[in-house]
Amino acid sequence: MAQIDWQDNLSVGNDTIDRQHRKWIELYNAFDRVMTDNNPHEARHLKIDSLQLMHEYMLYHFRYEEMLMANHGYPGLAQHWRQHKDFDYKLFAYIRLLETDKLISRSELLDMIHKWLIEHIQQEDQQMQRYFEERSREEESPQ
Ligand SMILES: [Fe+2]
Ligand SMILES: [Fe+2]
Repeated sequence: MAQIDWQDNLSVGNDTIDRQHRKWIELYNAFDRVMTDNNPHEARHLKIDSLQLMHEYMLYHFRYEEMLMANHGYPGLAQHWRQHKDFDYKLFAYIRLLETDKLISRSELLDMIHKWLIEHIQQEDQQMQRYFEERSREEESPQ
């Protein structure tokens, strides 16, 4: 796996969320480039900085989605929140491995992020947005 190209099947149909996902993917791609650059002198701190940057933006994005879910009374909030949290912990553990130079496989880390990001957007995030749209249709049409 490598870079992620934005494709329409990644759109959830909400401009703000799509914009945030694009930014997240951009930061992932930047991290992928730093990691796969075969320059042995590439300083470790560049990799850590790049992953931390993606991690921080991702947390900002997660908080935005969680705020929306809470505002809409989304019934899948707890499960969605748990997925965000688990991934946050997992990434944090990888950041520690990078910091201590104990990361065994770069491709394992890149593949893990790549896979999670796409699956989460296409499953949980799209499902969440469908619920928001159904709710707003229900609210618009009088009984
Ligand atoms: Fe998302
Ligand atoms: Fe999400």
